[in-house]
Amino acid sequence: MCGIVGVLGSHEASPILVEALRRLEYRGYDSAGIATVNEGKLDRRRAVGKLVNLSDRLVHEPLPGKAGIGHTRWATHGEPNEKNAHPHKAGPVAVVHNGIIENFRELRAILAQAGYQPETDTDTETVAMLTQMHLDAGKSPVEAAQATIAQLEGAFALAFLFDGEEDLMIAARKGSPLAIGHGENEMFIGSDAIALAPMTDTLTYLEEGDWAVITRKGAEIFDMENRRVNREARKIRMDAARVDKAGYKHFMAKEIAEQPTVLADALSAYLDGDRIEIPATALDFTKVDRLVLVACGTAYYACLTAKYWFEKLARLPVEVDVASEFRYREPPVLPGTVALFVSQSGETADTLAALRYCRDKADSIVSVVNVETSSIARESDLALPIHAGVEIGVASTKAFTCQLNVLLLLAIKAASERGHMDAADKAALLTQLRALPGLFNATLDRDGTMEAAAQKIAEARDVLFLGRGLMYPIAYEGALKLKEISYIHAEAYASGELKHGPIALIDKTVPVIVMAPHDGLFDKTVSNMQEVMARGGKICLVTDARGAAEAGEGVWQVITLPEVDDRLAPLLYALPAQLLAYHAAVAKGTDVDQPRNLAKSVTVE
Ligand code: AGP
Repeated sequence: MCGIVGVLGSHEASPILVEALRRLEYRGYDSAGIATVNEGKLDRRRAVGKLVNLSDRLVHEPLPGKAGIGHTRWATHGEPNEKNAHPHKAGPVAVVHNGIIENFRELRAILAQAGYQPETDTDTETVAMLTQMHLDAGKSPVEAAQATIAQLEGAFALAFLFDGEEDLMIAARKGSPLAIGHGENEMFIGSDAIALAPMTDTLTYLEEGDWAVITRKGAEIFDMENRRVNREARKIRMDAARVDKAGYKHFMAKEIAEQPTVLADALSAYLDGDRIEIPATALDFTKVDRLVLVACGTAYYACLTAKYWFEKLARLPVEVDVASEFRYREPPVLPGTVALFVSQSGETADTLAALRYCRDKADSIVSVVNVETSSIARESDLALPIHAGVEIGVASTKAFTCQLNVLLLLAIKAASERGHMDAADKAALLTQLRALPGLFNATLDRDGTMEAAAQKIAEARDVLFLGRGLMYPIAYEGALKLKEISYIHAEAYASGELKHGPIALIDKTVPVIVMAPHDGLFDKTVSNMQEVMARGGKICLVTDARGAAEAGEGVWQVITLPEVDDRLAPLLYALPAQLLAYHAAVAKGTDVDQPRNLAKSVTVE
């Protein structure tokens, strides 16, 4: 939920840290700060709110020094203000932290007994104070940091900087990702590869429990037993330029528009003719009795969609759950079960914890991720990349459709291997899938109708989304998109559920967005629409030409999409859901890429 960065460089650290924080701002943006050591003196600058406020501060109050650490915050403990902004400092040590120190109250009691009083409301300050206490007791900076790290419980990615130490940084990782970047007589640390892309493409990812002593010459890495370990330094394919808006007003708009391209990229990566390039050695569906799909948020709705595909196409029983419930429900995981985890970031704490719950129970662990070097990917038996490219907008768009793309390929593979889809059917469906990017482009060309509808929806206080069958999860995804970036209250229901209560919400102030291609369930959905309209409800019907011709009469708004194979409709119908949310948020003037209270990667519970 936060981003940390550090540099031991040969140039002024301040601009390097600020640029890296700009690339991490999608992880949290309640406040930001940096600290540097200059001529032996440790000092810091912090600012509440967006990173631009820190940049402004640094113009007026520059912070020299070639060694530094930085932080962009999503508040977990203590309100977002300058006092609670990182880096936190206690005496001669400054610390930046991503995660939650779960035993910080006990540690504060120990510190209070030793005469150390906190000045902030944060758990992170406790880390700095603990280190200060160990330094005061005569430990060296390395020993003091090591002793502190050993006392911490919870999740953390940490970086320490010390007064008088121009060539020393301590880093530690437990539960939250942290990479070490290798430069020419320079070293860096960062929460992810995006932050470090302008400085280096050679990264070493710390493993769970690792900590590191870093100087400009390199890093000494130790495991949680304090044994010296070697961790692989690898070249990361990161196109630094791709982390920019490329002329779009928002990252979200760019990422929505990228979908035809990245979907086509992913299909060419996975398909060799009609062969789906996922080796049976890694995943043989003839030996799978059931699937468990686990994720959070948008990724969960991708899993919910996949349930329909696996069960209908491959006749494979599927259980789907949100990770935060799954891990604490402690469900039995029977032999013959494959556990599959979907995560754009690959770092979502609840999803990672659910994976670890299944580690010794499921026959195998499969993940569908966008970051191939992420924790979830690295802890899976088989990690399937979605090839969406870097996704910066907090609201997930291209990652969602790329997740669906890979999940559908898996369902087709399963159907084929389990004898429920012959070669001709498979070839026909894959041909339609290859044509999908073209339908995305055709839909993007109709963005004007979605923008017009969104501007009307933006006036509402409450919005309902309805869907049946494969459109049911897409209704949920549409409601999530709208609420998370426009702050309009939006709920989703299975169309068939309307009469069981939610219809009481209907009146002329409540737009009802109905996701309904002209498929086998269309007529039933039309009945639901009539029930809504009979009570003054305003229907925004998202359908195709046949649906519009049959049921568009008298409807408040109609958005017509190209015809698409029913089985592929969830991918295409995600697009209007994204665009309605995007344009509603723009109409309301909310921060589309960095909506309030949110962060891109939820690396804490
Ligand atoms: C989606 O728009 C949200 N930003 C959020 O629900 C997200 O999908 C969820 O936090 C899961 O993230 P992950 O895919 O990185 O695990």
